[in-house]
This record gives sequence, C-alpha cells and structure tokens, in this order.
Amino acid sequence: MTKSICLTFMQKRSIISKEASIIGTITSMILVLNGPNLNLLGTREPDRYGLESLEQTVQKLTQLAEKQGFELKSFQSNAEHELVEKIQKAVVDKVEFILLNPAAFTHSSVALRDALLAVAVPFIEIHLSNIYAREEFRHKSYFSDIAAGVVAGFGTLGYELALRAAITKLQG
Ligand code: DQA
Repeated sequence: MTKSICLTFMQKRSIISKEASIIGTITSMILVLNGPNLNLLGTREPDRYGLESLEQTVQKLTQLAEKQGFELKSFQSNAEHELVEKIQKAVVDKVEFILLNPAAFTHSSVALRDALLAVAVPFIEIHLSNIYAREEFRHKSYFSDIAAGVVAGFGTLGYELALRAAITKLQG
C-alpha cells in the first residue's frame, strides 16, 4: 500500500529553498513596481506622501519578504515603456506576483494595463493616497478592475499590507 505524505506549504517551501540554494536559484519572486515621481518619495509633497524614501520602503519590504521565504525585486521608472518592458519580462524573470503603484499612469495607461493582461501575472494596485478623496481625474484607474486587490490611502503601510496579502495568496 502506498503511503501519502502530506507536507505543509512552509515545509514544501523549505525543501524547495534548500534545493534552490544548491542549484543557486530561489523560486518565488515578488516584484514591486513603481511609476513616475515615486523616486521622489520622502521629499515629494510630504504632507500627502509621507517622509519615507522609496529605498527605505523597499528595504523594509525586502526584509519582510525574506522572513517569509520570498525574494523581492524592486523597479521604479518615470518612463512608461520601461515599466511595460519590465512587466513583459515578468514571466521570464519568474515573477509570481506584482505589487504595483502606477502613480500618474494609473489614470492614463492602456499600455501598462495591456502588458499586465498579456503576462497574466497577478498584481495588487497600491496608492499611498486615497485617490477617491482627491481630484476627479484620479478617481479613474485603468487597473483596479483587473487587479487581485487595491490598497489606497495608508501611505507606505499600504505596500506592507499588499505584500502580506500577496504572500498569503501565494501560499494558497
Ligand atoms: C499615487 C496617486 C496618483 O494619482 C499620483 O499621480 C501619484 C501617486 C499614490 O500613490 O497615491 O503619483 O499613485
């Protein structure tokens, strides 16, 4: 009679991580993608966007992801085509989840939306500010209806909440 072996998700990940470290790769990758002007976090409209720099936020996220056994990569660009190219490469780069703050492209970018639909990598849309409590042109998002979820209005804490949600989803 065959004996079935049941492993918890963490046990499976630990085995995968050990195997991955032997062959030099880590399997589960989360990509944090930030759009235009978010490189200025910390100095850009601090009353609205806070005092934390993007580097500080990414550092905290990286530590949190690593503690849970995930690898986190971050990319920021002010250029739409660079963000599109990063999304197109997501599958080749073995990205399993994207945390995306499209910034101003939220309200304009069909190109980014199409890239996300093309790769079909799940993503969470993040906004530091509550876009629905701001100017009317910010109420329209090209991403919310295709996102796994949306976090808005909690400053940089929103990135952490989104990361925890992504990890929970990846753990199935
Ligand atoms: C933002 C909101 C956008 O409307 C704005 O253009 C940004 C930042 C936010 O994080 O609150 O650049 O995405």
